Amino acid sequence: MTKLRVAILISGRGSNMKALIDAARDERHPAEIVLVVSNRPDAGGLSIAEASGVKTLTIDHKSFGRGPDGKRLFEAALSEALKAARADLVCLAGFMRLLSAEFVGDWRGRLINIHPSLLPAFKGLDVHEETLRAGVKLAGCTVHFVSPEMDAGPIIGQAAVCVHAADTPDTLAARILEQEHRLYPECVRRIAEGEISLGGDGLVRISQAGGGALSNPAPR
Ligand code: GRF
Repeated sequence: MTKLRVAILISGRGSNMKALIDAARDERHPAEIVLVVSNRPDAGGLSIAEASGVKTLTIDHKSFGRGPDGKRLFEAALSEALKAARADLVCLAGFMRLLSAEFVGDWRGRLINIHPSLLPAFKGLDVHEETLRAGVKLAGCTVHFVSPEMDAGPIIGQAAVCVHAADTPDTLAARILEQEHRLYPECVRRIAEGEISLGGDGLVRISQAGGGALSNPAPR
């Protein structure tokens, strides 16, 4: 089986990265992790990837200087590393740099992200605080193709969790994170198997539907 070559971009602890690496350990999984890149030398995920035997690279955005020139040079180095690794798919996993329209365009249909809300609600940072403040009863996570606008690209998959009355941002984040670790490898698997792709019209082609309803409060 020819496996999909996946690169992962991180900035921090890398728990989603680990979930993608762990899923790829199964020889039946149709994707292999060929590279982990961090833009921060101190990202905790780097040592986790190394311990798993995955090749890592640090491309420190700060070393390219500030402003548009620094960003362009950083992204050029990133693209070069991804091409050298012959990555078919790039997974953002807690990667905290906003990528330019040019970079996103170059990797169109091959660049995906995970976000801890049911998009298009609660984009950006402080997601769990905002979720609790709004009083929504279903929260969750979303895997989506990356577009130039933050957390706004075509949606690939979502998982919902109930919000509990006693939740704090931390307890809610933990419940969602558990689903992130399940959903992200599942979406990668489906992309690798050709079940999901990005159409020329910007819509996600998906060949299988999901399950039944999830409601909170639960129906009696
Ligand atoms: C996750 O909640 C992910 O959805 C968001 O950033 C967090 C990264 O966590 N984009 P980790 O580094 O994968 O543990």
